[in-house]
Amino acid sequence: MSFRVAVLPGDGIGPEVVSQGVEVLRQAAAMAEVGVELRSGSVGGCAIDAAGDPLPDATLQLCRDSDAILFGAVGGPKWDNIAPEIRPERGLLRLRQALGLFANLRPAKVFGPLVEASPLKRELVEGLDLVTVRELTGDIYYGEPRGITTIAGGERSINTMVYTTAEIERIVRLAFAIARQRAGRLTSVDKANVLETSRLWRKVVEQVAKDFPDIAYEHMYVDNAAMQLVRAPKQFNVIVTGNLFGDILSDEAAMVTGSIGLAASASLGDRTALYEPVHGSAPDIAGTGVANPLATILSVAMLFKYTFKLDALAERIEAAVEQVLAQGYRTRDIQSPGKKLLGTAEMGRFVLEALS
Ligand code: IPM
Ligand code: MG
Repeated sequence: MSFRVAVLPGDGIGPEVVSQGVEVLRQAAAMAEVGVELRSGSVGGCAIDAAGDPLPDATLQLCRDSDAILFGAVGGPKWDNIAPEIRPERGLLRLRQALGLFANLRPAKVFGPLVEASPLKRELVEGLDLVTVRELTGDIYYGEPRGITTIAGGERSINTMVYTTAEIERIVRLAFAIARQRAGRLTSVDKANVLETSRLWRKVVEQVAKDFPDIAYEHMYVDNAAMQLVRAPKQFNVIVTGNLFGDILSDEAAMVTGSIGLAASASLGDRTALYEPVHGSAPDIAGTGVANPLATILSVAMLFKYTFKLDALAERIEAAVEQVLAQGYRTRDIQSPGKKLLGTAEMGRFVLEALS
């Protein structure tokens, strides 16, 4: 068995955390005796600086020729005032679209040793284990028309929220299948009391549900879901929702677990899949060696599960992370009194040791 993995570190803390992820990827691949060919490409702000394009053709081609992508983060204040068409984030959005990465899986799991890191009370979060299944290539992110025009007395801005039956059906079907492998519970989140897109969403969920009679599902309005996530997060097991609502709720769910520095993600589509930490480029701490590499390492675990189909190795990587946390090692974002503070590279090294 041999796989090609494109490594796209990007901006900010991206390169620091990705290099730790790559070490874990190499070691776990060696343990499983799978061949991995790693090739790097540029994306985001650094690609704008080098090539004037946040997703250069060479990078897109590299991704198309790969089985998986390990992605760091893009963006930073340096590129905040650049034309919207070439903002660093556009690189990521175009990549998702070009590769048809319609399904974004974002687990939010509370690790036993980190219960205290959650801003919520212990009894609310202990044992929490949910996954947000976010639609990733449709909705208001890509809808046309969009833009800003000049009108008398100012400007007028427009974005379009749009979903088709087919787009909704494939993500909802995947979410039901994931629910079947988990606790058999699914919450579909929408705003059907106001939006047509959500009314269609609900209708499709009802239809798909007929093929999954064993799954207990419910509909929930997004405002209520945002509230329930901090009131009683354990009521959720699988959440399925559109691109915009999923962007917001997955950050909230991640924070409920204690730190967004631990939130991993997988973006799945027709072929090549993309694995990326949810935290973003964190320009304020870039280059200082304090970033938490665990979200990237846990994204590598997802890569082993979904692309390499090596669930056992994925579980071993997760177990190594949990072991290091249980030993009391922490990066700054999850530090608490009496625990041992580590930098990015040290944390990566401890995970490697725990893995071997
Ligand atoms: C995410 C990010 C992106 C998004 C940005 C960087 C475009 O917030 O992956 O959640 O909004 O999808
Ligand atoms: Mg986001």
